[in-house]
Amino acid sequence: MQMAPTSVYREGQTILEVPSLDEPKMMPAFFNPRGRFVRDVSIVCYSAYSLERSAKSRQSFADSLTGTGARGIRVAKEVSSIDQVFLNDINSKALEFAKKSAKMNDVEGKCVFSRSEVCSFLASRVQNDGERFDFLDVDPFGSPSDFVDCAIRAAKDGGLVSLTATDSAVLCGVYPRVALRKYLGLSLRTDYCHEVGMRLLYGLASQTAMRLETGIEPMFCHHDMHYFRIYFSVKVGNPYSKENEKKIGFILHCFKCGYRSIISRDEFFSVRDSSSQTRDKSLNQRGSEVSICPDCGHGGRERGGRVAFGGPLWIGNIQARDFVGRCKKMSELSVFAEELDLPLYFDLNSIHLKKGTSMPKTTAVLEKLMSLGSRASRTRLNPNALRTDATIDILRNVVLELAR
Ligand SMILES: C[S@@+](CC[C@H](N)C(=O)[O-])C[C@H]1O[C@@H](n2cnc3c(N)ncnc32)[C@H](O)[C@@H]1O
Ligand SMILES: [Zn+2]
Repeated sequence: MQMAPTSVYREGQTILEVPSLDEPKMMPAFFNPRGRFVRDVSIVCYSAYSLERSAKSRQSFADSLTGTGARGIRVAKEVSSIDQVFLNDINSKALEFAKKSAKMNDVEGKCVFSRSEVCSFLASRVQNDGERFDFLDVDPFGSPSDFVDCAIRAAKDGGLVSLTATDSAVLCGVYPRVALRKYLGLSLRTDYCHEVGMRLLYGLASQTAMRLETGIEPMFCHHDMHYFRIYFSVKVGNPYSKENEKKIGFILHCFKCGYRSIISRDEFFSVRDSSSQTRDKSLNQRGSEVSICPDCGHGGRERGGRVAFGGPLWIGNIQARDFVGRCKKMSELSVFAEELDLPLYFDLNSIHLKKGTSMPKTTAVLEKLMSLGSRASRTRLNPNALRTDATIDILRNVVLELAR
């Protein structure tokens, strides 16, 4: 049988043998060089988290859908505090590449390879906590929703789970009903849809964990191309589950004026007015309407905007700032820049300018907001966006004043 062409590729401090990128149609196994940035970010996150735990015991990492092994082999080579790396995939040809790369990087002794369906692989390790994983990555084609349950079961108490989702249209509100089925909450097509997507992913992880009398704590999330990536620690025990319950809620959004807010489940059910019951049937990309907008609804039901909702989803913080600070110390990547915990960023492009004027620089808007006494920061989820506690009216006035 003719062997598929291969190439050697360098990423970080690791050399990878991968299917030839010249003939993508002939590729017998998955490798995407454009995923390099998200893998670079992973290495920093795992290193920072692992250094905190390393004094305790040996640490294991599961690359549960390893493909040709790019992430797992990099962990074995570049994260010295992780002692053992498990690389699993259903595709035996993919595993052959991973094995060759392990040899080339002299990390064979740290690596354990298996060819199994992902949940069988993960379930084989849940008999006692010692066998569960300190680190566990789930990087599927599309949505990770099929695998979240087995991932949380196979993570150690205090372990770190990372998930990738690439079904951007679902998470970003193009298909809200698919989001409801896959992520247990409606998505919303708003200017901050990447944040909605992250909150849906954390929401699914948290709601799955709660079933298992477990909680999650978000550590870090970022977005690159079509990749949504979240990192969370797993906290086993009913108290964590109860804490998580308070972190599931809803987003309210007015498509007429841009008003947005994030609210608990209890608040949501008090906001929902009786007329919304019938309007649920008209669910579309603008979500299901629940009440008149508190900002632009003063003209009454006919003239004011109506507020749509997204969720249920995660309404707590989507990063642990001290953890991100530790990542920042270890890396020059700007994705670890400090970011405030103010929910629902504003994409400045969504603010309509007068004809003939152009959008001011994001930094200029940020500085002006801070000079007016508002809290504000950039967000790693969108380069043209800001987080702020200023009202949308103040933000709009600042943008319009600075626009030329
Ligand atoms: C997106 S790729 C993984 C990419 C890899 N993590 C990387 O960074 O290059 C998804 C992989 O999942 C594998 N896969 C799909 N369904 C699976 C299943 N049910 N069990 C195990 N592996 C599976 C595919 O063979 C493919 O290699
Ligand atoms: Zn409004």
